[in-house]
Amino acid sequence: ALEAVIFDLDGVLTDTAEFHYEAWLELANELGIPFDKAYNENLKGVDRRTSLELLLQRSDRRYSEAEKERFMQRKNERYRELIRRIRPEHLLPGIGELLEGLKARGIRMAVASASRNAPAILVSLGITGYFDEIVDAGMLERGKPDPEIFLRAAEALGVPPRNCLGIEDASSGVDAIRGANMVAIGIGDPGTLGNAHRVFPSTGMLNLALLSDTYRSAAN
Ligand code: BG6
Ligand code: MG
Ligand code: MG
Repeated sequence: ALEAVIFDLDGVLTDTAEFHYEAWLELANELGIPFDKAYNENLKGVDRRTSLELLLQRSDRRYSEAEKERFMQRKNERYRELIRRIRPEHLLPGIGELLEGLKARGIRMAVASASRNAPAILVSLGITGYFDEIVDAGMLERGKPDPEIFLRAAEALGVPPRNCLGIEDASSGVDAIRGANMVAIGIGDPGTLGNAHRVFPSTGMLNLALLSDTYRSAAN
């Protein structure tokens, strides 16, 4: 039976995927590296260092380790400026009701975000209290698409992976959920998230009945 739901943060609980994009775009522009929304799909769900490497792959220059450190710092400073404006009304559509519904049914909840900024964003959104576990991104050995982050969340919750459902907006994240042998819901474009059990264009369509239904049809 469905016992736990594990949420990605950026692009699932709130629209910070847009802020990550904006902050990387500014860095790319400064460095004269081509960058757009289509290429940004590859960065979604991926940790800060790997995201930078994906961006710099498109440059004909090589950069030193010290320069890379500065770039990551600059991107993160810009990102932190952007997330300062986050308030509870910035929860994506349907998320507030979904969290309430799951809590009322006694379903356990965790956040599995690659972002070191995740705990602060949950506080700004006012939803920290809903989650039994928040995986510490700094403690991970392998990033998404490796299943480690989802397996750690399940372990911390004390729920077997087969009784968990994960929700992701990134292709790397959906692959991580599937690799953990959990049921996967994708939020976004079915072309990008085809590996999920079901894909919905928006979080506004999510509710408890639909999650239970997706779990039941996928998990047998
Ligand atoms: C993920 C985002 O949640 O966190 C990625 O989808 C981001 O875009 C990653 O690179 C790391 O975030 P941060 O805040 O630690 O740089
Ligand atoms: Mg995401
Ligand atoms: Mg994430």
